[in-house]
Amino acid sequence: MCGIVGYVGKAEAVPVLLDGLRRLEYRGYDSAGLVILRDGELFRRRAVGRIKNLAKLLEEQPVAGHLGICHTRWATHGGVSEANAHPHLDRSGELALVHNGVIENYRDLREELIGHGCEFRSQTDTEVLAMLVGRELDLRGETPVTKELLLGAMRKALRRVQGTYGIGVVHRQLPGMLFGARRGSPLVLGIGKGEHFLASDVAALVTHTREVVYLKDYEMVTAWEDGFEISSLAGGGCSYEINTVEFGAEEVSKGKYPHYMLKEIFEQPNSLRDTMRGRLSSEEATAILGGLNMSNSELRSVERVVLSGCGTAHHAAMVGEYLIESMAQLPTECEFASELRYRNAPMPKDTLVFVISQSGETADTLAALQECRRKGHRSLAICNNVASTIARESDGGVYMHAGPEIGVAATKSFTSQVLVLNLIALLIGRIHNLSSMQGREILKELEQLPEKVEKVLATGDAIAALARKYASCKNFLFLGRQANYPVALEGALKLKEISYLPATGHPTAELKHGIIALINEETPSVVIAPSDAVFDKNLSNIEEIRARKGPVIAVGTEGNRSLEEVADDVIWIPEAPDYLVPILATIPLQLFAYHLAVSLGCDVDKPRNLAKSVTVE
Ligand code: G6P
Repeated sequence: MCGIVGYVGKAEAVPVLLDGLRRLEYRGYDSAGLVILRDGELFRRRAVGRIKNLAKLLEEQPVAGHLGICHTRWATHGGVSEANAHPHLDRSGELALVHNGVIENYRDLREELIGHGCEFRSQTDTEVLAMLVGRELDLRGETPVTKELLLGAMRKALRRVQGTYGIGVVHRQLPGMLFGARRGSPLVLGIGKGEHFLASDVAALVTHTREVVYLKDYEMVTAWEDGFEISSLAGGGCSYEINTVEFGAEEVSKGKYPHYMLKEIFEQPNSLRDTMRGRLSSEEATAILGGLNMSNSELRSVERVVLSGCGTAHHAAMVGEYLIESMAQLPTECEFASELRYRNAPMPKDTLVFVISQSGETADTLAALQECRRKGHRSLAICNNVASTIARESDGGVYMHAGPEIGVAATKSFTSQVLVLNLIALLIGRIHNLSSMQGREILKELEQLPEKVEKVLATGDAIAALARKYASCKNFLFLGRQANYPVALEGALKLKEISYLPATGHPTAELKHGIIALINEETPSVVIAPSDAVFDKNLSNIEEIRARKGPVIAVGTEGNRSLEEVADDVIWIPEAPDYLVPILATIPLQLFAYHLAVSLGCDVDKPRNLAKSVTVE
């Protein structure tokens, strides 16, 4: 949800900023803009639409300089227009600011600032912030503006703000100085040789440096060519840690693939290996998850598990409910984070909460986590982004280690989330009801999973052909039972997100209670029907659809001939235990959605209206 990049150093700033912005484009792509500070002047360029529009504008109206800030926007306050594009200026026009987050009390502040003579040129909450910092400087009335004066003004302004921000700031009177601050929205400082960077996500920095400092909430940073300082919003210095980013430029580029989404789908054998790496103990026949920060006896005292997340992460949570209940026999509930945060449902004392989030920044998920912690429940996180806000604020958790996911539609993060939930179910199961033999059997299956995923991916061309065959259909149903019901939801979500076709997921047996009214020759049903205990029931449901002339695409276990006889088309997945089928069955649905959207000419990596990380309610 909006991405920011800042640069100070010896290189030309514009190419560095544009490159960083392109890597953050997944965070929003309504408009983009930058400011370069050179010879005491601010040069601003802004354009509606994708980064390429800004790049084109910069070709027509080039700017040179070695210090700048830039922004890619996902509109929250104010429509998509050049006037609303960042950076925004203060009243004097001397200060420029970019912002990721939401200023909740912006209306009151705006009124107050208008009272002081500020004239607003946009409808954004960000311009209020720029004006507020400028106003604090005006009140001091000292010139020239020094670093200390600006930091003081930022502190005063930011203390008045309710909401979230990650900001980048430059000021005309402070050449060579880049400023930043954060609360609730991510901000990373990149440390180079004779240069420094600011960004919302390390993906924007890794082509230049892997040495980073993840800023914490209420921290501010000042960076110049040869150095930087981190201070707290309250005033005074802060201790910080320099981290080395594990992935490089290669992993944040598309490589040989036409889209990030396809690359990330094909990365799944390796992302799943990375998720499991070092976590399977054959000696103890269990999973090792040290990050949970819980002893076996503490885990044993857990009476109930609550799983929560948004979007795809919520679907993973739904699969997790089945996994933990069946493997560990522990009552488990799953709830949308956006509902959990506002509900006041009774939660027994020994409830263990897991929030699930790829980005670790989703506002609703963060709020659900905070609410559960406030009520005293041990609350853990399953996140992909290291050092993200959710990971930091939780009592512990499990990193997915799936590597950077850039495509807006979540793919490899889903399968890694489900895998982590399998590991959690195994760990809890082993301290309750599972024997070491059963544990060992599960480990064996887990180890074979990446190879089975490779087999599914090898059928990619056939799935592409199938997607083209059905590309003219206007409506799709996805059906699945038990742990494959969330798979149906996820298959439908993928198709909706990137092809904009109406697609809905349902428990297969619910078909006859209403959904069957939708069946006709032009409405295909994608039925997940592996060879499991409910296969015969699924077969009957497929017959019911066929009897009403509805086309059926089944996802079934290799070698199941009876499925071939009833379905129009079958996508095969390798034989696997029930707990791993949701991973194997989801991958063909990701490919189906991808190829269908591509054949419709949709921009699969940047679907309309969506953003990868939603940091507003
Ligand atoms: C957005 C994205 C979804 C994602 C959801 C949760 O809506 O478009 O793809 O599943 O946020 O994101 P998270 O980072 O918390 O997993």
